[in-house]
Amino acid sequence: MKILFASAEAHPLIKTGGLADVTGSLPRAIRNLRHDIRVIIPAYQSVLKQQEKFTLVAHLELEGVAQPVRILAGRLPGSTVTLYLVDSPEHFDRPGNPYTLKQGAVWPDNAERFTTFCRAVEALSMDAAGLDWQPDIVHCNDWQTGLVPPLLARHLPRPASLFTIHNLAYQGLYDWKVFKKLKLPADFWSMEAMEFHNQFSFIKGGLVFADWITTVSPTYAMEIQTSEFGYGLEGLISHRTDTLSGIVNGVDYSVWNPGRDLHIPVQFNARSLTHKIENKQALQEHFRLPVDENIPIFATISRLVEQKGIDLILDIVPQLVKQNAQLIVLGSGDSKLEAGIRAAVKAHPKRVAAHIGYDESLSHHIEAGADIFLMPSRFEPCGLNQIYSQRYGTVPIVRNTGGLADTVTDTTPETLAAKTATGFSFNAATSSALLEAVDRALGYYRQPAIWQQLVCTGMKQDFSWKHSAQLYIKLYETILARRADEAVAESA
Ligand code: ADP
Ligand code: GLC
Repeated sequence: MKILFASAEAHPLIKTGGLADVTGSLPRAIRNLRHDIRVIIPAYQSVLKQQEKFTLVAHLELEGVAQPVRILAGRLPGSTVTLYLVDSPEHFDRPGNPYTLKQGAVWPDNAERFTTFCRAVEALSMDAAGLDWQPDIVHCNDWQTGLVPPLLARHLPRPASLFTIHNLAYQGLYDWKVFKKLKLPADFWSMEAMEFHNQFSFIKGGLVFADWITTVSPTYAMEIQTSEFGYGLEGLISHRTDTLSGIVNGVDYSVWNPGRDLHIPVQFNARSLTHKIENKQALQEHFRLPVDENIPIFATISRLVEQKGIDLILDIVPQLVKQNAQLIVLGSGDSKLEAGIRAAVKAHPKRVAAHIGYDESLSHHIEAGADIFLMPSRFEPCGLNQIYSQRYGTVPIVRNTGGLADTVTDTTPETLAAKTATGFSFNAATSSALLEAVDRALGYYRQPAIWQQLVCTGMKQDFSWKHSAQLYIKLYETILARRADEAVAESA
């Protein structure tokens, strides 16, 4: 099969969150299963600066876009996957991350930027870029690619489309004035299309027009059909329940493997857990915390946003301190949460430490050196750190939602006996429920034999992409077969 995979981020070239990890690894797994998958992302300034081996393969005039854009081609680093870059300097040649100049300040022209991107994806999908290559299926990811399915739906014949929701909270909503500037077909602004409560919704394009919708875990696929998680889109999503499914993310164990990880001071595996203690001590030194292997280290690595329940962690700092634990936070985002973390560090300098910012290498060291990973998310489409944590012998405490529910097995007498326990989960999104799970975890932490069992069971879990990549391939085949039937009906 020929697949075009469109995304706004791709690790290691450009990353703000888990979408980049998925774009950087799923296509490679699909390529390894011998399919011709190619990735397309915008040519951000920081991407062009990193890689020089991009060649110009096409000039494109896009409908509704003033300046012509260029398509550059190269490889997704560390793979044989072809990577296309949409080079539109007026939209992407600027500092900052894909969506903001700095945290909070979103680019005012994001709608134009990602419309241009979607138009370019449409052109490549219709083999209108002179590349002599047309995908059978276009796999779109999140709102930044939401206009691709409706743009494609205007062509016949056309490739099939799949839209993957990594996070329904980000929708790409713009008012009428912005919509006018996008020079899109007028009927895109209608209730049956992308109009949503008098706004123009990029994500609705994917939800209405894609041939199939997936989310990044089976539990989240159920949750977004309810009002608690659906943001008012639950009706539309439930309506598509026959063409909606959840496939849990895999992880790239060539990047996240404590046995080979060059970001961490000492490599280790389940048979050399004493080396994990050396990482722990180095981590305590790094953060200038008292160095003591018997003090449990709780950690979190996260975008600091409401979704992640960071406020719940801040609420229980006094209890963690009372329990003689240490807490390490790596993250950036919401300024109130950043201030809350700084205040906790100031109040308990020997107990709480933080790095406010983004630091890839430090994130690996924290995974390697901590004992317990906190992920009390209010919602979590999949979540990756609870999976990385397991491989690094860092036992996760998670809220029982979305992908967290699908990837962590709570510790109970039964799951301990069956040797399936990998962490701790709790239900209510409250600090008292989190605290209860923390207390349970600490109870077991003080029983070294049981703790070691939890650590080792986690380290043995296999969340590699192979299985999920096969599920995507089966799904692509299903979508193509359905699309072929529809195309016959449409042309009759
Ligand atoms: P989300 O995509 O919602 O942010 P995920 O758990 O899927 O959540 O993925 C988050 C990814 O971003 C992980 O790879 C995590 O290690 C990384 N990450 C988040 N914040 C930071 C940070 N401050 N420094 C380094 N890596 C971070
Ligand atoms: C999103 C979600 C996260 C998921 C990631 C990759 O950012 O918040 O749960 O793991 O996408 O799919």
